[in-house]
Amino acid sequence: MTMTHFGPTKLDATLIPKIAEQWGTPVYLHDQAYIENSCEQLLGMPNAFGLHVRYAMKANSDRTVLRVVTNKGLDLDCSSLDEAARAFAAGIPYARMMLTTQEVPSGEERTELEGMIKAGLRYNVCSMQQFRLIADFARKNGVDLSIRVHPGAAGGGESATRDTGSEYSCFGVHLRDVPTVKSMADEMGLRFTQVHVHIGSGGDPEKWRENIDRELGFVRDFFPDAVTVSFGGGLKVARMPGEKKADIASLGAYAKQRIEEFKAATGRKLTMEIEPGTFVVANSGHIITRIIDKKLTNEMNFLIVDGGMELLTRPLLYGSEHPIAIVRQDGTLLSSEYDLKPAAGLKAFGIVGRCCESGDSVRLDSDGNIVPVQIAEPEIGDFVVIGGTGAYSESMSPENYNSHRKPGAVMKTRNGELVQIRKKQVREQLTQNELDVTF
Ligand SMILES: Cc1ncc(COP(=O)(O)O)c(C=O)c1O
Repeated sequence: MTMTHFGPTKLDATLIPKIAEQWGTPVYLHDQAYIENSCEQLLGMPNAFGLHVRYAMKANSDRTVLRVVTNKGLDLDCSSLDEAARAFAAGIPYARMMLTTQEVPSGEERTELEGMIKAGLRYNVCSMQQFRLIADFARKNGVDLSIRVHPGAAGGGESATRDTGSEYSCFGVHLRDVPTVKSMADEMGLRFTQVHVHIGSGGDPEKWRENIDRELGFVRDFFPDAVTVSFGGGLKVARMPGEKKADIASLGAYAKQRIEEFKAATGRKLTMEIEPGTFVVANSGHIITRIIDKKLTNEMNFLIVDGGMELLTRPLLYGSEHPIAIVRQDGTLLSSEYDLKPAAGLKAFGIVGRCCESGDSVRLDSDGNIVPVQIAEPEIGDFVVIGGTGAYSESMSPENYNSHRKPGAVMKTRNGELVQIRKKQVREQLTQNELDVTF
């Protein structure tokens, strides 16, 4: 399969009422073919001496998504011990995972971590303190380490909240501390066989290029044992019409050239690693909501739908935009922002969810004001379908706020079948950990 689409996966409006009837709304919808195609594009990225692609599972950690991605040959980047354990529970061996986290756990979880590393999990040292806590264990067990370096360079993210390379973020061993950590490792006979930098999510591809040059510079200066250089994730996708996506062929070609030059200068052949999350799944997903009410104020027409910030918090958190489609109850596509259809006769509606928050809307400006969306006027009972929601939606939501239950998820398989991959929470799950205490 060699599709090369980059926008949201094509919406088949006729499926929407069928899905709603069978599994209710709101519900997440994923597209297996789209995810597999993204994986193929990434694996085909130009490279000099080999490419290793990890999926940053924080983007969507559902077991079916993990299986689709790993069956295509991607390994995983995990951001917590629980993510690693969760991927293992999905049947993925620890040897296919790297752990890039803010904490070295203690107690039982420390023992668990050691077991995972012994089973092949790669540990990515993210601070001087982490190095101190892991070094003895690594030495005794002959474990080679990866190191995440904080480059102290801004601009790697789509917003300040997604910029992990700047002096105002705290991820990785700061470049200033690298010589100290390296000499501590040398004294103990420990090797950093991988160097890793993740500068942020969805930033300017030019910053990604700059990072390649900078990172190869400190690999040369400080890390003679490194055989792999990871440039992290962050590859931008275009969710909205007119948005500019990262050109991964051109980024790969740039990295290839630089890694070849590195080989010419040092005699060392480096394998390139990348760890995108967004690129793999973002545009594979839709959220299907149903219009439950319409209201009018002196300022705005509102559509109230049965799912909002508790399903997708990116608009409220980042001011992110997601394309909106309106589908009639009979499966007719009334309007679609992504396809810019129809071109005329549209009306402005503020689209809001059910939570008692004035910011519970799918479109907000940077001050948190609701921005109306131009759509064909629907009726109560019709569907609002939100595109580009495969990443950082169900894995990153204030779920259960207002005690709404986390919705289920459905996958459209490669053969076009619809399969439920996660059930909706049952009410008991809202309170299952609460204790009846008497005072
Ligand atoms: C260490 C690390 N790697 C990879 C990613 C994936 O980024 P993206 O989803 O933008 O590709 C993230 C996202 O926050 C991250 O923190």
